[in-house]
Amino acid sequence: MSDPFETLSGTLDEVWRRLSRGVVEKRAPARHPVMATVGAEGAEARIVVLRQAKRSKNRIEVHSDLRAAKVDELRANPQASLVVWEPRAKLQIRLRVRFEVLEGDAVVPYWQAMPDPARTLYGGTPAPGTPIAQPQDHVAGAKDGAYCVLRGTVVEVETLQLGLPRHRRAVFRAADGWQGAWRAP
Ligand SMILES: Cc1cc2nc3c(=O)[nH]c(=O)nc-3n(C[C@H](O)[C@H](O)[C@H](O)COP(=O)(O)O)c2cc1C
Repeated sequence: MSDPFETLSGTLDEVWRRLSRGVVEKRAPARHPVMATVGAEGAEARIVVLRQAKRSKNRIEVHSDLRAAKVDELRANPQASLVVWEPRAKLQIRLRVRFEVLEGDAVVPYWQAMPDPARTLYGGTPAPGTPIAQPQDHVAGAKDGAYCVLRGTVVEVETLQLGLPRHRRAVFRAADGWQGAWRAP
């Protein structure tokens, strides 16, 4: 079988194929990217669930609670990074993403499409990050208006594929029409 990572276009195809798989397959590595934002004290990183990956729009989406720190961080600085490690392919995917926060009327269709158990992930009491005396003091439950969609426009993709006899690193930018270029690993 031919190696898709031999070419730039094959590499970018693999990136989007794996991101798309993360959206639909619970056990796919791209299901759980690390998302890094810029916080008041420096870089902040955490795991999220990848909910959308649409290559035709350079779009990815993550769902969250409006009261989460990452939302404030993205409002202050919408530039973020997502990182995925695909162990079988030995592929690191780094995405540079510009996020907007969708809330209110804009997320009604998302909310309506979501099953009840999933809704309880957004809107517990008290708000995320609030100090509590013990874990039982947090009550899960859907809270109207606490749910948001973090809609990201991917502006750059960087890959590092580990292999023999050599590693392969590439960078693709929206600004260059995604043609891509190799980099020294
Ligand atoms: C497997 C896993 C998946 C998660 N998915 C999400 C998610 O999709 N959205 C989210 O806001 N937090 C998610 N979290 C929780 C975040 O990692 C983080 O702990 C929380 O959102 C608070 O982060 P913040 O204070 O930086 O906003 C997930 C955590 C784990 C372990």
